[in-house]
Amino acid sequence: MADSLIDNVIDSGRIEFVSQFAIPFTAGSLARVVIDDDNDARMKRAIEAVTGVATGDQSAYERVAGVAAEILSERSADTTGRDDVLQSLVTARVDGGRGLSLVEQLGVVTVLLLGGLDTTRGTIAHIGRYLAELPGFEQRLRRPEWVRHDLDELLRYTSAVSVMGRTVTQDNELLGRPLKKGDRLAVHWQSGNRDEAKFEHADEIRFDRPKNPHLAFGVGIHRCLGQQFARLQIEVAVERLLRRLTGLAVVPGTMIKETVGVVAGAPEQMFLSFATIAD
Ligand code: HEM
Repeated sequence: MADSLIDNVIDSGRIEFVSQFAIPFTAGSLARVVIDDDNDARMKRAIEAVTGVATGDQSAYERVAGVAAEILSERSADTTGRDDVLQSLVTARVDGGRGLSLVEQLGVVTVLLLGGLDTTRGTIAHIGRYLAELPGFEQRLRRPEWVRHDLDELLRYTSAVSVMGRTVTQDNELLGRPLKKGDRLAVHWQSGNRDEAKFEHADEIRFDRPKNPHLAFGVGIHRCLGQQFARLQIEVAVERLLRRLTGLAVVPGTMIKETVGVVAGAPEQMFLSFATIAD
């Protein structure tokens, strides 16, 4: 998928990095993982609909739900040879008892889209920006070991999910402040990831941190379900880009537009030029 997106732009020497790479790559990958269907035409519809959700088309949710509902209705507990996300929703039991209703199954599909689209797209877009702007960054990401050593620092620094809500379930206290049952809290992952008490020079990218206990994927029972998948997508995206492109730079006279909202500050539109690497 990454290769074919690069094929589309390679001759022009220029890419709008978000709409021509980060969005279709992450939406296509997520569609293939969540809706794994042998019917090519339906799979194409699913990818189109998930890409629609990723670009903010609200009506696209209905199209994703339509495709998922169609496939779910064809599956049964003993659909042979399937071991995928939708099949696990068909066989799931609540505390060993009842199965999930269609509404619940589609709810899980929606949460996977909500959790998986803007986040991974945002992180890849940040990395594209650093490739264009930070001296020495491309050379660093050309070393395969960057995934083990550097990726967590980038996840900490970019902290794609800035904040999430929680409701206090019992009277409690946090750092000396009283919390009352029913209070609403904003749990600010991004702020925690820039906490000087935990990370020296927290506002800088430092690849030599001895430990990196960041909260980019949250913490506790709701810790990100897709974190390994996200890491894999980021690794593949960078590897494929740098296999064929070099010298990414912001096109003079263009501005980088940034996202607002939960995934705040990631490039939303970013025109980059590049040179190609001969095969
Ligand atoms: C760099 C990419 C990603 C980041 C930074 C990220 C971040 C997070 C964070 C901070 C949470 C915790 C939310 C909370 O505690 O309220 C979370 C939960 C979740 N994420 Fe991710 N995520 C990423 C990619 C993905 C992907 C690719 C998927 C889907 C395949 C995904 C699916 C989920 C789901 C389903 C949850 C909810 C888990 C639960 O409530 O038990 N995420 N993510």
